[in-house]
Amino acid sequence: TSNEMWGGRFASGPDAIMEEINASIDFDKRLYEEDIAGSKAHAVMLADRGIISAEDCDKIVKGLESIRVEIAEGRFAFSRAREDIHMNIEARLAELIGPAAGRLHTARSRNDQVAVDFRLHVKTALQRFEAGLVEFLRALVDKAEAHADTVMPGFTHLQVAQPVTFGHHCLAYAEMAARDLGRCRDALERMDECPLGAAALAGTGFPIDRHQTAAALGFREPTRNSLDTVSDRDFALEFLSFAAIAGTHLSRLAEEIVIWSTPQFGFVRLSDAFSTGSSIMPQKRNPDAAELVRAKPGRINGALISLLTVMKGLPLTYSKDMQEDKEQVFDAIDSLQLALAAATGMVRDLVVDVEAMRKAAGHGFSTATDLADWLVREAGLPFREAHHVTGRAVSMAEERRIGLADLPLDDLKSLNPAITEDVFSVLTVEASVASRKSFGGTAPDNVRAQIAVWRERLDLE
Ligand code: ARG
Repeated sequence: TSNEMWGGRFASGPDAIMEEINASIDFDKRLYEEDIAGSKAHAVMLADRGIISAEDCDKIVKGLESIRVEIAEGRFAFSRAREDIHMNIEARLAELIGPAAGRLHTARSRNDQVAVDFRLHVKTALQRFEAGLVEFLRALVDKAEAHADTVMPGFTHLQVAQPVTFGHHCLAYAEMAARDLGRCRDALERMDECPLGAAALAGTGFPIDRHQTAAALGFREPTRNSLDTVSDRDFALEFLSFAAIAGTHLSRLAEEIVIWSTPQFGFVRLSDAFSTGSSIMPQKRNPDAAELVRAKPGRINGALISLLTVMKGLPLTYSKDMQEDKEQVFDAIDSLQLALAAATGMVRDLVVDVEAMRKAAGHGFSTATDLADWLVREAGLPFREAHHVTGRAVSMAEERRIGLADLPLDDLKSLNPAITEDVFSVLTVEASVASRKSFGGTAPDNVRAQIAVWRERLDLE
């Protein structure tokens, strides 16, 4: 049997493989609420403009509402023969209200219909991410406040570099999350244009009011070029770019949590709520949630590259290739949502071993730079020479398997006679972090000042 939508032109129905490659209902049914909202707004506008009767509009809107309830309650029979969510709903509408259903698709095409549905879906997802990122920021700032004075080793190349504060480290992730929030909002701002009414590609001869439907669906304004409108998936690509970057940040935090929670580091303890045990090794506390947060961006990055690759080189306007946009985006939405929620929970619950961090901060000659800086400040050495003297002090301490601060003053003097007892005051990790008061530096006073700024910012959210 030929198609119920376009059977007029066709003598026979599709090959089974045609149906299988063509049908998108298995995944685009996720757009049902947006599809129904878009259709309601369209029908009301058609009636307001005298394009369909008020009576037909009423039937259409009521029919759509009962379909929405059917789907929400799991009573709707989705059909692959009806290809996608748009045709599944329209065909069901015809079953429910008869010929009036056939008037809904006046001055509309599935091309602008899918564009509006998908855009609404991505918009809603981004709005949820806005809220989720703010929650994540609060968790980071709370943790930073609790640990403004907690000293830990700062690393470069994952080698101990200089002591830093854990509060400062938490606020580093807050900076990343705030940039992600900015990207999220930029994308929302740009995508706030309604595609409905672009029709197939050229607009329509019916006297529609695109400003009305745009407003009814919560968009700032209608899009301005019908050709671009049905071809454009920038909003999806921007979402995926935002998600890829945000996911990258979460994965870096997750990796640090994995490292910090090893018995070898022992900096943090994950809560029971975010750890798993082993089925064979009774002692284990595995950071599975952190590992999955580390892994999820793999899917998101894949989705970004997938959709970029689908879109590249496509001629204007709509091509069926574009149907491949949805699964990737849906998967990225779900992946980021889980990763963000898990990261927020882990940060909130994270128990810090302050003593273990402080001890580790003193290892690896972490205050060597402080010694060199002292030589510059107090003995007037050029930094390069101070660096050299300090290097010799480090190798002396290393040979004796002691810390820099444990070297006898006489030995230090043998490296440079200007060194006095006073040098020991800069060799503790506490003195080191306290001295890093340059703007943006790790000193506890700086961290507290930054927390105050974050609090003000978050109060406005
Ligand atoms: N299922 C299609 C999609 O997701 C809807 C648009 C189909 N339009 C068309 N002209 N075949 O892109």
